[in-house]
Amino acid sequence: MAQAGLPARRAAVELLVAVLEKKHSLDEVLGRSLASGWLLNLPQRDRALMRAIVATSLRRRGQIDHVLANFLERGLPENSGTLYAILLSAAAQLIFLKIPAHAVIDLSVTLAQYDTRAKRYDKLANAVLRRVAKEGAEITERLDAARVNTPDWLWQRWVTNWGEERARAIASLNMVEPSLDLTVKSDPAIWAERLEGRVIPTGSVRLLPKGRIEQLEGYDEGAWWVQDAAASLPARLLGDIAGLQVADLCAAPGGKTAQLVQAGASVIAVDQSEARLRTVRANLKRLGLEATVVAADATSWKPDERFDAILLDAPCSGTGTVRRHPDIPYLKSAADIVALAGLQARLLDNAATLLKPGGRLVYAACSLEPEEGEAQIAGLLARQPDFTLDPVRPEELFGHGEWVENSVSLRTFPDALRLESPEWSGMDGFFAARVVRRK
Ligand SMILES: C[S@@+](CC[C@H](N)C(=O)[O-])C[C@H]1O[C@@H](n2cnc3c(N)ncnc32)[C@H](O)[C@@H]1O
Repeated sequence: MAQAGLPARRAAVELLVAVLEKKHSLDEVLGRSLASGWLLNLPQRDRALMRAIVATSLRRRGQIDHVLANFLERGLPENSGTLYAILLSAAAQLIFLKIPAHAVIDLSVTLAQYDTRAKRYDKLANAVLRRVAKEGAEITERLDAARVNTPDWLWQRWVTNWGEERARAIASLNMVEPSLDLTVKSDPAIWAERLEGRVIPTGSVRLLPKGRIEQLEGYDEGAWWVQDAAASLPARLLGDIAGLQVADLCAAPGGKTAQLVQAGASVIAVDQSEARLRTVRANLKRLGLEATVVAADATSWKPDERFDAILLDAPCSGTGTVRRHPDIPYLKSAADIVALAGLQARLLDNAATLLKPGGRLVYAACSLEPEEGEAQIAGLLARQPDFTLDPVRPEELFGHGEWVENSVSLRTFPDALRLESPEWSGMDGFFAARVVRRK
């Protein structure tokens, strides 16, 4: 029989290898492996521990690397298999999750012994982790956490684009486990009370994460859906859409589709990923909402009809969502932003052809990179002379004028919405702007 606690640690190491070496997205690997793959039989408690270890390892990777470098005098041995992931995940447990040292060290040494390439370093792992247990916390406290836990490429971009103070604020929030935000169909105050959460200024219900979402009250009856507070803003910028024909381009997993349908529009939800559209259908079914769901490439999709309004929530680097996706800094690069910006421009140009004269289009991206936000709208206006900006107003954002950038577009940062503690605070970094087609 496996040592108690071993499966969760083993799974955490496998996931870290999948992200850091194989460059797979954590959500994708987790989704696949929990649904039908190697994590299917992992008990719920182990899953929660595994997730906490992986998230903490990624959020605190910079600090942990400093600590490990202190104790690995000759650096990490070459060709040592999963040794690095074992040490990273063990240090996360010792320093940040405060799990007793003997359990963490024993299990880590066992994991090293299971791996043909790491096993000759089992004694090294033991020695390093003993020192991490004793001195690791003190070393990490001396480090500039926000800076070292942000990879250089992102830090430099954020300082250049938003200034050092803001970069530091973003990076500080990225180290905190984010809240769970729900968009409710109705009665937010009642749901906040039932779920022991609170209603925040966007009208979302915010909870501190606890256990499985599917087990929360209201899930089965479709009373709400999971959606970050900032992610709930772009769809609202389409204004009153009751009775209008609306296209939701790049719709999966469907949080914004649900908002549009709930607002009374007749919605076509388009996404190129058939697999992700299955999630859209399942979400709509659970919520008792109806939309037409279409699998198509939105850079070239040409339906017969044109639309009164369009929401284009473009695929992007996701750098505004690092709190929720701590793997992003290690999966994406500056080159990805260039490639994504090209795709976003093509999506916008096709979307522009699908709008009726007088119609409105909201473009959104959960990115902090101006190339994926402000520059996209500037590019669209330069290429498409029959489009004009329709500035976002603070009244549309619950009076939050600080979310309106240059009196024109929506721009939220992860450190917005500061409530009494970091755990209750924050929102995704989003950009959104609205343009209208001349009549
Ligand atoms: C940011 S997500 C959309 C999130 C969604 N709007 C929501 O609120 O739940 C971007 C989506 O774009 C889709 N996508 C990427 N390239 C596409 C393309 N060329 N045509 C259509 N969909 C695309 C991806 O499959 C992904 O589901």
